[in-house]
Amino acid sequence: MNAPALSAVIGQPVSRVDGPAKVTGTARYAAEFVPDGLAYASVVSATIPRGRIRALDTSAAEGMPGVLAVVSHRNAPKLPYLERDQRPPVDPKSGDQLRMFQDDKVLFNGQPVAVVIADSQQEADAAARCIGIAYDETEPTTTFDPGRGRPPSEETAKGGRPGAAGRGDGAAGLAEAATTVDVTYVQAREHHNAIEPHATIAQWDGDSLTLYDKSQWVQNVVVEIAHVFGIEAGKIRVISPFVGGAFGSALRTWPHVTIAAIAAKMTGRPVRVELSRRQLYHSVGFRPHTLQRVRLGAAPDGRLTAILQDAAAQVATYEEYAETTLQPAETTYSCPNVATAYRLVEMDTNSPCPMRGPGIVTGLYALEAAMDELAVALNVDPVALRLKNHADINEKTGLPWSSKALKACYETAAERFGWADRIAAPRSMRIGTDLVGYGMATAIYHADRAPAEAEVILFANGTAVVRTAASDMGPGTYTSITQIAADELGLPVEAIRFELGDSTLPMAPVHGGSITLVSVGSAVAEACAAVRQKLEALTGEGSIAERLRANGLDRLAASAKASPGEETKRYASSAFGAVFVEVRVDEGLGTLRVKRMTGAYDVGRVINPKIARSQCIGGMMGGLGMALMEAAEWDPRFGKVMNANLAEYLVPVCADTPALDVTFVPSEDTVLNPLGAKGLAEIAICGVAPAIANAVFHATGRRQRHIPIRPEDLIGT
Ligand code: MOS
Repeated sequence: MNAPALSAVIGQPVSRVDGPAKVTGTARYAAEFVPDGLAYASVVSATIPRGRIRALDTSAAEGMPGVLAVVSHRNAPKLPYLERDQRPPVDPKSGDQLRMFQDDKVLFNGQPVAVVIADSQQEADAAARCIGIAYDETEPTTTFDPGRGRPPSEETAKGGRPGAAGRGDGAAGLAEAATTVDVTYVQAREHHNAIEPHATIAQWDGDSLTLYDKSQWVQNVVVEIAHVFGIEAGKIRVISPFVGGAFGSALRTWPHVTIAAIAAKMTGRPVRVELSRRQLYHSVGFRPHTLQRVRLGAAPDGRLTAILQDAAAQVATYEEYAETTLQPAETTYSCPNVATAYRLVEMDTNSPCPMRGPGIVTGLYALEAAMDELAVALNVDPVALRLKNHADINEKTGLPWSSKALKACYETAAERFGWADRIAAPRSMRIGTDLVGYGMATAIYHADRAPAEAEVILFANGTAVVRTAASDMGPGTYTSITQIAADELGLPVEAIRFELGDSTLPMAPVHGGSITLVSVGSAVAEACAAVRQKLEALTGEGSIAERLRANGLDRLAASAKASPGEETKRYASSAFGAVFVEVRVDEGLGTLRVKRMTGAYDVGRVINPKIARSQCIGGMMGGLGMALMEAAEWDPRFGKVMNANLAEYLVPVCADTPALDVTFVPSEDTVLNPLGAKGLAEIAICGVAPAIANAVFHATGRRQRHIPIRPEDLIGT
């Protein structure tokens, strides 16, 4: 297939095609389906960090109005939870997933230990509060002690998360350096906190199971739940047309999905499980608390001689989850000597999981803050230092980039921001009582592609339906894929309906890792091209409608499977960006305001500049939250997040939003996919936190080596 030529629809700022459904409330989210006879569940969470359930008193709850069943390890069916070689294709790579109601063990505070099912949510919640549980506690491990860190398992290492990686000789590179920095950074545990809580409705029809679920990958939910219950994948259907934000928390199934299916089985009714905001802090994953040490060495001219980066991240005891935290150390800059070491610190906690830019944003935070410290030590401009060490190829793999316009990102963003006005010495810019700081950082996020399938049906009335089992958690997939189809079919956007979020649709990969547009978009483009060829083979002239009618057809369908081409193996692909930030700090009050942010991005061809900008400003605000607000406050006495609510776990709101300037530099990546696009999602949160941290140093002259940076860190001089 050739790249679509200059087209009418691709590249246009089309408004979201699902916008009207969302703003009028007709878009249905998982918890909003109402199958006949729907019953409601309330999950009971453990209140100790480790031990066993000694006694469980459900008698009062069972007698309460509307209660249909109380399920726990005492009466739940024994489930097969198939062996690890049949593990579903998502993280974690090793360990044993949490099994629901299969024994009396408590592995972390907040673990689901029972569920009440009733005719109404209120009755279920009331009865859940009347369940008495007595525990035998054992000594928990609830502190984050990096000294206890261990390397990831062999399976995890094989899955691309090794304990050690690099090239050359890190120690020798450091020894030969004229200038070095050796710094340690800490990042808080963060939670996704999507607006839509996780929810599942399970409905059995004989041995067939339908799940209405909040999911970034409906076909994986089928695989995982088939694995838990030991039933054929063909017996399970997962429906998820709308997702109210997820950011990685809905890439895999969590215990409540299994609980919903168990509860529906035991009551013979469809059952809804909707987690409370508090439960979201321990019933789904989170970005792990991570400590990193970065050592950089540079020659007198600023060339890097060594990058050594170590990370220690928290992990659950029962399953293993490791991040790609140290990948930026290997790929962001040219450097002959790189050494990374990754350690997991087991704790009695629920398992962490991917969260927006998983691993990469964490590693980039430390790397890009350390680069700023190196620039100060060398007395060179931070942008100049990065240009000096530009990676012309991916030095981790030795492969050329399929496209790279990072230099244009630095140049464009610096120009738009007015970086030239920056006075290099910290504490030298002021407006009134505010210290002013300018900071910047590089953004990088690998661009990947996976096989995908799509079906297109043209109708004699001149409309078309495009079908594939993708998700849209909010980035605008409904819209961008509709635009691609409109272009290929030569139809207006309004004539196309895009159906997604149903596991029975043609195969689509995970809606994560910024791969959906290039993967699913390529399949849709090919399916459209195939149906167009079929149309052209028909006799007759004129419009689609006329051609179909002339041939006595009411519809014409075609399918396609699109896979990454062989040439993708000869290149490394990545999105790039440069982020510039201005902060204002009042040391008397400890207040810190991000005044403005400028980002310039190389994301390949932009399919829709309006929703692309929305992705970028959303990512920037995610990064602002990371830098200044987001932190789970963990109390080791209880092994528990104490601020498990949106009043005390702070996220940025509109009032925190600065002026946000987004530019896409000219770029096209036809190696990665025929559309010329690269993923545009996670790149937007990358680099934001270190740019802010670097600006805070420039404003105040004091280096904050942890995020979030808060007023108490800044007050006083
Ligand atoms: Mo993203 S963490 O791949 O949803």
